[in-house]
Order: sequence, then C-alpha cells, then structure tokens
Amino acid sequence: MNKKVVLAYSGGLDTSVAIKWLQEEMSLEVIALCIDVGQGGDWEAIKNRAIAAGASEVIVTDAQEEFANDFIGPAIKSNVLYEGKYPLVSSLSRPLIAKHLVKTARKFSADSVAHGCTGKGNDQIRFEVATTALAPELANLAPVRSWGFSREDAIEYAQRFGIPITVTKKSPYSIDQNLWGRAIEAGILEDPWAQPPEDVFDLTKKTSSEPIEFILNFEQGIPVGIDNVKMPLYQLVKHLNKLVGSFGWGRIDMIENRRVGIKSREIYEAPGALAILMAHKDLEALNLERDLAHEKSRLESIYSELIYDGFWYSPLKQSIDSFMETSQKYINGQVRLRCESGTCFVVGRRSDQSLYDYTLATYDPQDAFVHTDAEGFVRLWGLGVQTWAKRQWNNTEKA
Ligand code: ARG
Repeated sequence: MNKKVVLAYSGGLDTSVAIKWLQEEMSLEVIALCIDVGQGGDWEAIKNRAIAAGASEVIVTDAQEEFANDFIGPAIKSNVLYEGKYPLVSSLSRPLIAKHLVKTARKFSADSVAHGCTGKGNDQIRFEVATTALAPELANLAPVRSWGFSREDAIEYAQRFGIPITVTKKSPYSIDQNLWGRAIEAGILEDPWAQPPEDVFDLTKKTSSEPIEFILNFEQGIPVGIDNVKMPLYQLVKHLNKLVGSFGWGRIDMIENRRVGIKSREIYEAPGALAILMAHKDLEALNLERDLAHEKSRLESIYSELIYDGFWYSPLKQSIDSFMETSQKYINGQVRLRCESGTCFVVGRRSDQSLYDYTLATYDPQDAFVHTDAEGFVRLWGLGVQTWAKRQWNNTEKA
C-alpha cells in the first residue's frame, strides 16, 4: 500500500499537476484538501479536477467562519500591518490551512503534507513552520519547489495525463484571495515604476459615488455589527469589502521585504480590512490608556512580523496574544465612517468606556482641570534638562 500525503489543493494548474506528480514520481496516495477561506470558486469543478488528476479523496471544508473568528479576529485586535501597510491577507490563511492539513493527515494516517508554493515566496515558510509546530512528526513536501517545471512544462504534464485544466489566455498575475483581501503579483507589476493597470483590481472597482455613512459596533475589540445590526465577523467583512470597495478605496501598492531576502512589488486590495483596522485604531485612541496604547503599538509591529514570518504557532506569538487580549477588554463602542468617491474615513467615535473627559479637555467654563497643578509638574518635568543646561550645555557647547 502506498504512503499517503495530504495536499493543500487550490484547483489551479500547479496543485492539479502536483497531485499527479506526487503519485507518479513519489508513489504516494494523494488526498486533496480544499479550504474555503472566502476566495470564491466553483467547488464542484475543483473537486472533479482533483479526481481527474488522480486524488484518492477530495475534501472541501468551508472554513470562512473559523478564519474570521480565530485568525482575522486576533489580527484586528492587534492592528496587524506588516511594514506598516500590508494587513497580512495571505499570511493569515496559511496557519489555518496548515491546521486543517494536519487534522486531515491524522484522520487518514498520512505521513506527509504538501503545498503548491514556489521556493521564492513567504507562503512555503508559513505552511511548513506551522505544520512543524502542530505536528513535528509529519514530513513537508513542496512539489512545485522540487520539480523545476516552467508553466509550459506544467501544462504539457497536465495534458499528458489528461488533467482537465482550462488553459485560458494566461493571466499575467499571480493572485491569492480570501475574506481579508486580495494579493496580486507578477506581470507588469514587477516593474516598481509602472502604475498598476486597472485590470489588476477586482474588489475596489469604483461603482459608487453618492456619499454614505455607517457605524461599526465594536465589542472587546471585534466589530460585531453595522449600524447596530449584529452580524457574524465573516459576513461583516464580506459586506464591508463590497460596500467600501465600491467607492474605489482599499488599495495598497508597496515594495515589500519578503522573508527569503527578496524585495517584491505587491498590490493588495483590502477595503473591508483597512476600514475595520482604521475604525478599531480610532476606538482604541479613545479608550486605551496612554502607556498601554504606546506599548501595544510597539508589540503590534513585532506581532505582525511574527505572523508574516510564519510564526503563528510560536511561544512569543502566544504570549503577545495574551497581552493583546487583555488590552481589548474596554474596546467597546461605535465608530462612524464615511465613504465618498475614492475614499473612506472616520468622522466620529463614542463609547461608554471612553477615556475622553470633556471637563478635562474643554476650554469652556465647565473646565475642571486644576491649572495650578501644572506649574510644579512642568518644573519637575524639565528639572533634569535645566540642571544639564546650567552645568554643561550653556557653559561648554554654546560658549
Ligand atoms: N506577499 C504576500 C505575502 O507574502 C502575498 C503573497 C500572495 N501570493 C500570491 N500568489 N499573490 O503574504
């Protein structure tokens, strides 16, 4: 009996050829696992293609809700943005897919898991490090990294074995999509000077121009409703992608540092993610005490890097999770957003646990701030500098 491998199957050319290749070249029985993280797709056709390619089993799992609750949720609480820009769209889905690969490998007593990533990207790292963390005993296979096929070779291989791939006019782009957004690479985008052509965009085509306003309701750092109507997170994100995306807002154009040492030009569309993160940060500005807010922001960039680098399942990530969780206890309230042609921004925020105190902030007669307290405070605040100025700076450097 052949050994078994569970392959993360997307339905595309590479992973379809990978099924046959793992069978032919490595004598493995291949179980194809499709995880629905909101990328959209004709699952029936995808299933049939996996069978035609030689998979012994095809499993399709709808993991949208799990993806939203267990992966997007923590990302929101931690305001994740790699290098200050990228909301970690692909980086977040990989540890979830790895979790399902491991679960399926155990169910079918497989010895290995496999993915369809190349050797130049970050995703291979995320799959393999996550799998290793969850199941140190499982081997990782990466057929696309091993076989050295060009696209033409892969098409030829598919045709030779009768794998039904629809080789349409080759899209020059490499696209990865899930609930949290869409990543587009390659083609003309590999020229960092070239403006992205309109045809790379899908979630952010401008179809609305009449301004709208809506409220995002937050409970403990998570958006739980729109205009006070409760909604599960995965639906809320989908809804916002449509709503905010229709104003042509939510695009990111960046030069990104990959973990493997390559700088790459990346285009992202993440209208829902960017609107939620903007609103969440705004509510935190109202409700987080200053020192906590500042330390949190330092940890956010470390946390984003950990996720980008494939350490979703790691001790440091887990420990920062606890910090983030505690910080979100009072992030309850409402943020009002406005969309106009080409843009989306916050116009208001309120919360029962707001730390904004009108009587402290105002210059009106209701002012409750004790102005005389400031005098001694400022004197002591500057005391060290004053001493330095008297003894050193005034005498030497300025002289
Ligand atoms: N550069 C991004 C990341 O590492 C996106 C990669 C997505 N892959 C793609 N085929 N477009 O997370």
